[in-house]
Amino acid sequence: GDVRLWGGRFADGPADALARLSASVHFDWRLAPYDIAGSRAHARVLNRAGLLTEDELTRMLAGLDRLAADVADGSFTGTIADEDVHTALERGLLERLGAELGGKLRAGRSRNDQVATLFRMYLRDHARIVGGLIAELQDALVGLAEAHPEVAMPGRTHLQHAQPVLFAHHVLAHVQALSRDAERLRQWDARTAVSPYGSGALAGSSLGLDPEAVAADLGFEGGSAGNSIDGTASRDFVAEFAFITAMAGINLSRLAEEIIIWNTKEFSFVTLHDAFSTGSSIMPQKKNPDIAELARGKSGRLIGNLTGLLATLKALPLAYNRDLQEDKEPVFDSCDQLEVLLPAFTGMVATLTVHRERMEELAPAGFSLATDIAEWLVRQGVPFRVAHDVAGACVKECESAGIELHQLTDEQFAAISEHLTPEVRSVLTVRGALASRDGRGGTAPSAVAVQLAEVKADLAVQ
Ligand code: ARG
Repeated sequence: GDVRLWGGRFADGPADALARLSASVHFDWRLAPYDIAGSRAHARVLNRAGLLTEDELTRMLAGLDRLAADVADGSFTGTIADEDVHTALERGLLERLGAELGGKLRAGRSRNDQVATLFRMYLRDHARIVGGLIAELQDALVGLAEAHPEVAMPGRTHLQHAQPVLFAHHVLAHVQALSRDAERLRQWDARTAVSPYGSGALAGSSLGLDPEAVAADLGFEGGSAGNSIDGTASRDFVAEFAFITAMAGINLSRLAEEIIIWNTKEFSFVTLHDAFSTGSSIMPQKKNPDIAELARGKSGRLIGNLTGLLATLKALPLAYNRDLQEDKEPVFDSCDQLEVLLPAFTGMVATLTVHRERMEELAPAGFSLATDIAEWLVRQGVPFRVAHDVAGACVKECESAGIELHQLTDEQFAAISEHLTPEVRSVLTVRGALASRDGRGGTAPSAVAVQLAEVKADLAVQ
């Protein structure tokens, strides 16, 4: 028989070309468990509105349980002729319960409010999965910081040596960014916990159904939609999810890029574990950071998912339009990509070998202690403008002599400025420079220890 939910006023079935264009079952099938949960909740409110007897409700719920089991074990699946997951599951229900009882479930609902509800449920579950995977990466990064509490490295701006920082401080900067991604997911979830079920096609239902009861049944803490048109037409929850996941991907890509650079021969700051690197089909010596490269590459794809979705939504009139069927694949893909990327990325981070001597050898190079000379002069009462010039003159002298700042002689210091007494040497060590930046958020070991404790406490409560 015709499985379409809308054949009544049509003399002809759909052309094959239309059926192929229209079908979404190959990608919206993943909503099937949520569709069945929605159907259970809907059956209960139909019963309470007097539209299903107790006996019918019992048989309906049993039929939905059988259908759910058959979906779970793969013995029932949708086909292209079903158009979408909602139609396929209605066919499955009719096959199990017969048209008399099975045909009663459609009353008072539309695929428009169904899909808007199921999509929220799916994304809320995956926000939790992605959030958990981000937390695991944060744990790995915290472990890396804790395992190297005293290691100094060159801190960079413009990718040039700037000032020495603690490696742990740098690693924790990435943890902080990921914390905001995780927080965004939690805040998004609270906003998305509103159920559109009961909005019908766009105008609500005349059947006395209780949308609040459905919302509670389906775990929507925020209740049901306050406006049925908005309930069926709004997709900002999808766009926001796409942004949050794209931003997480971008944050990953920034760490990925650093790991790729640190792993080069020239830097030699880290070595990747064999299990988390790949080889070359032609160059036997190669060991490549493919996980980090895929993270970098996939961040572009996540941005594409966001921008494609925004373009689909732009200028779309209310309420439901079929354009909205294009809303699912981009964010399903964003979930899929992050869920496969994050575990590999975490494994790469957790197994990273850090080359302390190399990082510390380079930490003072490139005159990265020049700021310390300037700030030392300020502590001697020299105005910063003068101090900056004097420290700059030290760098200039070193550059032409091919030496580092601490190699300047007392005579050279004195020739540059009367203020540069030999005591300036006290700040010309990496340890001294690090320890002096002990204010909140600074790179001193004491300040980084405070930060680490705060970060760990935060991760523990999430
Ligand atoms: N499959 C559609 C979607 O994903 C839902 C069905 C609504 N279709 C319709 N013709 N009103 O958006």
